[in-house]
Amino acid sequence: MKKYNIAIVGATGMVGRKFLQVLEERQLPVENYYLFASARSAGTKIPFMGREYTVEELNETCFDGKDIHIALFSAGAGVSLKYAPIAASKNIVVIDNSSAWRMDENVPLVVPEVNPQDILKHKGIIANPNCSTIQAVVALKPLHDRYKIKRIVYSTYQAVSGAGMAGYTDLERGIQGEPPQKFPHPIFANCLPHIDVFLENGYTKEEMKMIQETKKIMGDQSLRITATTVRVPVFHGHSESINVEFEKDFDLNELKQVLANAPGVVLVDDPASNCYPMPIYTQDKDEVFVGRIRRDESVDSGVNLWVVADNVRKGAATNTVQIAQRLISYWEDGELE
Ligand code: A2P
Repeated sequence: MKKYNIAIVGATGMVGRKFLQVLEERQLPVENYYLFASARSAGTKIPFMGREYTVEELNETCFDGKDIHIALFSAGAGVSLKYAPIAASKNIVVIDNSSAWRMDENVPLVVPEVNPQDILKHKGIIANPNCSTIQAVVALKPLHDRYKIKRIVYSTYQAVSGAGMAGYTDLERGIQGEPPQKFPHPIFANCLPHIDVFLENGYTKEEMKMIQETKKIMGDQSLRITATTVRVPVFHGHSESINVEFEKDFDLNELKQVLANAPGVVLVDDPASNCYPMPIYTQDKDEVFVGRIRRDESVDSGVNLWVVADNVRKGAATNTVQIAQRLISYWEDGELE
């Protein structure tokens, strides 16, 4: 098997460091890794794969002469907007964790359990969806295939790690009684119904990301979706209450079986034994955990789900690395040049 060269942009960040951990676990066929971050971190040594890597400054020429095949980006939307096209112009396939390219019609938005085939349409950039969207669609796709979803109501309870190192630090500071630096209000002992910026329609950008990205990944613009996204004082793991209405009737036990058999889903649903998904038990897991499954008795055919996943893993790093693995297997099988 051919060996590939992979770059990591934002290697010193919350998601960048998780990229390294997931890559180390999954052992891709890689010859060389290159780690990039801002000038602030250039020269920083990072132990990885039994070696010590030196972080290099990201700039317009940093990819030159390295024969890089894939670049995993997680350094914010501004960095991706500027540098992903530069990398792509050098024949590098960018897998971008930021929101910069997700809704671009030339950029596939991929969750490998849901729409891996969209990777085949890439033109140099592949986008990794928003963390909250990823875990939702892993649970919803098998139900859409079986019962045809009409409408979705998302309500999220999102961890501070979703806001990077700065979000994480704000909760630590709050616990110590110090004021926040990242969020507009204290996050400790509080809930903020405000993730990303507010838009003209009164929704936050995070809410609109969930709505638009779900439709794009599922390949169905007819889905009716609304969302409320909330930051809660949890370090790791996003939780979501998802209310779904179907076109078709369903049998509750069969629906549970559909979820139990779905790729990437783990059913944790035994309320009699206080058994349901919770963020503290999903930390450092790659799967999406689903429980509290019950019929929505207010509509003809609807269900309520409680969906929890590690937002930095499946919501970001794991999903990005899984896309890289698929891309490599498409190359190996000759389905992609
Ligand atoms: P650095 O550590 O040098 O600032 P997080 O979301 O956890 O804050 O991480 C953001 C990541 O993006 C870090 O690795 C950070 O590097 C990197 N980053 C931020 N701004 C830039 C930039 N202008 N150029 C390159 N990397 C950047």
